[in-house]
This record gives sequence, structure tokens and C-alpha cells, in this order.
Amino acid sequence: MTLIHELAQHVGEQVTLSAWLQDKSGKGKVQFLKLRDGSGFVQATVFKNDVSEAVFEAAKHLTQESSLRVSGEVRADERAPGGVELAVSDLEVLGSSGEYPITPKEHGIEFLQDHRHLWLRHRRPWAILRVRDAVQRAIVDFFAGEGFIRFDAPFFTPNAAEDTTELFEIDLFGEDKAYLSQTGQLHAEAGALAFGKVYTFGPTFRAEKSKTRRHLLEFWMIEPEVAPSSHEENMALQERMVSFIVRRVLEGCTEELALLNRDLDKLRPAAEGNYPRVTYTEALSIIRRTLESGELPPNVSPDTQPVEWGDDLGAPHETIVGSNFDRPVIIERYPAAIKAFYMQPDPADSRLALCDDMIAPEGYGEIIGGSERIHDYQLLKNRIDEQGLPMDAFEWYLDLRRYGSVPHAGYGMGLERLIAWICGIDHIREAIPFPRMLTRMYP
Ligand code: 4AD
Ligand code: MG
Repeated sequence: MTLIHELAQHVGEQVTLSAWLQDKSGKGKVQFLKLRDGSGFVQATVFKNDVSEAVFEAAKHLTQESSLRVSGEVRADERAPGGVELAVSDLEVLGSSGEYPITPKEHGIEFLQDHRHLWLRHRRPWAILRVRDAVQRAIVDFFAGEGFIRFDAPFFTPNAAEDTTELFEIDLFGEDKAYLSQTGQLHAEAGALAFGKVYTFGPTFRAEKSKTRRHLLEFWMIEPEVAPSSHEENMALQERMVSFIVRRVLEGCTEELALLNRDLDKLRPAAEGNYPRVTYTEALSIIRRTLESGELPPNVSPDTQPVEWGDDLGAPHETIVGSNFDRPVIIERYPAAIKAFYMQPDPADSRLALCDDMIAPEGYGEIIGGSERIHDYQLLKNRIDEQGLPMDAFEWYLDLRRYGSVPHAGYGMGLERLIAWICGIDHIREAIPFPRMLTRMYP
């Protein structure tokens, strides 16, 4: 059996494919079959004169998504997408297909999502989810190359770490409660103090009640954590990682990006590194200036208000800052009051946290959030108290400061946000095989 993506190496040879029929057209003496096998797409031509009567009849009556065994000669054809075509000599139906719901006409997004289990077979999901695979492999290779070990955090956790309103609560046999993990960070910190450099890579869960293009209930996060490390080193690691991933995708996914019509000139700068850095306070000036100029990026409403110092940035504000640069921009040192309890205060100004968000260009918004962590026992204990968090659940976390504490830092990158930006797609629901959202649990 030969795979479609290998066909170009077999020009002039006789091959057999196992494939599905995507679409078919034809007239009296010839049938054109559009085939896919997961590895790629190719057109197969059945000439009445080249095959038996039975095979030609079978070809004429094939239905969309029938699974087939197809034999024939590989012919070079410059006009064909992969540079080749198959001249069919024999054909066998392995599994017939009933009235397939996703016809070649246009369908609405709700319909496609209801049929996600079948929609996966089509070109656009093919391209996006192969980029996802390439990104996942790039991440694993990047961290292995940097001397990290992969360290898996639990999915059930005893404590909140980010916003307590976003927690999914699990009933533990009516006795105790646990939560689905919003982040693996706290456990990754234990890992960093044990192994030096670790990263988690797994699903995380947030009870996001808002419907946006950037939020899923279940998303995958990569969370490196390094001890010892600093805010500066943390930002440098983020830039090395993202530029590495973008380089990998640009090299390895040319067919996928072409199929998605991705504008590569807009992606290439991110492969080079040299990501600009601005402080939160500078970002507010950029936002104010852009709003005053009236030259707003697409999707930003002219009613958008500037941000008062101390308030968090909203999605339109991130879009504005991101659109001022041709590659990801790092916004650092946000007010501590709007950030998580575990962030190390800025020694130069204790109102600020030693933290950063990486904002993707072209309106994709935040893809990374990270910080240096509080390493002082008493300071961390005070923060847990001030925020009214349950001390019991954090005793183990405080132990990390009781026994050989050291400044350390890390960050989390949302996999689907990164993929949506790299692929240039407008909603992150397409960046995961089966998205889970407020309005989407099926299939
Ligand atoms: O900024 P966040 O909330 O940071 C943390 O969870 C830290 N504990 C990470 C760390 O320092 N180890 O989330 C990190 C990233 C965001 O930048 C975003 O890319 C993604 O996770 N993210 C989501 N992606 C999809 N759907 C959601 N609901 C998301 N919430 C966050
Ligand atoms: Mg964040």
C-alpha cells in the first residue's frame, strides 16, 4: 500500500492506495475521483477504455466517503496540487457510504460542528490539526533540547490557582471537594525544585461563562517552570520557544499553511526572535495613542475606551497593542492587584508584579502568561491570607518555601491560541479536534 503523500516518488510506477472518495465528477467516458487517505489528497482518473466494464460502472456509482482500494499508474501532472495524478486500472469498494451529510456545498459553522466527527475528514481540519501535531512535536523537541524534563501535573487538584470563579468543582463521594485543574503551575513548581527544569503539557479546565473566539472550557497548556530562574530569563525562554515553534511550522507545514491561505509574510518575523518588550504602563500609552489616532485595527470598535492605570487589558486593548508590532510583543510588569497571588513583586515598585503576557500580532491577543514566583515564605502566606484562599489546601505549596526556597519562574502557553494564530484562523474551536465550550459538548 502506498500513501498519497509518497506518490511523487513513484511517477511511472503502478501503485495501490487505500483511500476515501471526497468528491467525484465525470462524463460519459471518464470519471474524476478526488481521493484522500489522511496523508494527502490526489485526483484519480478512470477512463472507460482502460478498465473493465465492472470497474467503470462501480466508479460511476461511487458515493462520497466510500472507502476504496484503488490501483493505477502514477503520472506527473504539473497542474495537479501534489504534482501527480493516478490513472486508475482497478478499483474495489471496501466500505460503501450512505447519504453523507457534509456535501461539497457550503455549510454553516453550527452544522459543521454538529458533524465534527465527520468534518475532521475535510481539508481545513486536516491542515489545522496537522499543524497542531507539528506544534506539539516542536514543543517536546524544544524543551528536550533545552534540558527540561516533561513533568505531568494532576488534573484533579485541591486548590484554585488562578481565578476562583473559573473552577469546575468535582464532588468526591460527598465527602470532600476537588477541582479540575486550571493550571499545572503549582505542581510544576514542586517539579522545578526537584528537577530544575520541567514542563507540563496537558489539558486544563476553566468554567468560562463568556462566549469568545479565544476561550475554551478545556484547553491544552504548556507550562515550563525553572528553579532557579528570574523574570528576565523567563521572558527570554518564551521568545526562544515561540520562535522555534514558528520556524518548525514554516519549514514543515508548507502544504498545510498554503491550504489555509496563511499570509506567510505576516508569520515570518515571529520566527526571527527579537520580540519587542513594553511595560504595562507603556502599553496603556500605546492604547491611548492608537485610540486617539482613530486608526484602529480590524475588529476593534471605535467605542473602545482607554485603560485606566490599574485596570486589566481587555481583548480589544490586546489587539491594539499587538497590531503595533510585526511579531509577538511582551507586555511586562502589570499591577500586582490584577494578577495572581503567587507573583513576585517588582523590587523597583511594589505595586507591580514581575510578570508578563505575550501578545500575538494580527489581533490574536494573549498566548502566554508568566511570572517570577514569590519565593519568600512569609510574603506568600500573607498573599494567600489576603486573598481569602484556604490555607489548608496550600500547606504543600508553602512547603516549597519552607525547604530550600529559591527565586524561580515559569509561564503557561495556551496551545489552541498559538495554533489559531499560526494558522490564521478566526476562532480557537478549530484548533482542537473536539472543542468544549459553553455551547458545545457534542459530539
Ligand atoms: O494567563 P493564564 O491564566 O496563566 C496561568 O494559568 C499561569 N498559571 C501559567 C503559568 O505561569 N504557569 O493562562 C495561560 C495561557 C493564556 O495565556 C492563554 O494562552 C491560555 O493559557 N488560556 C486559554 N486558552 C483557551 N481557553 C481558555 N479559556 C484559556 N484561558 C487561558
Ligand atoms: Mg493570563
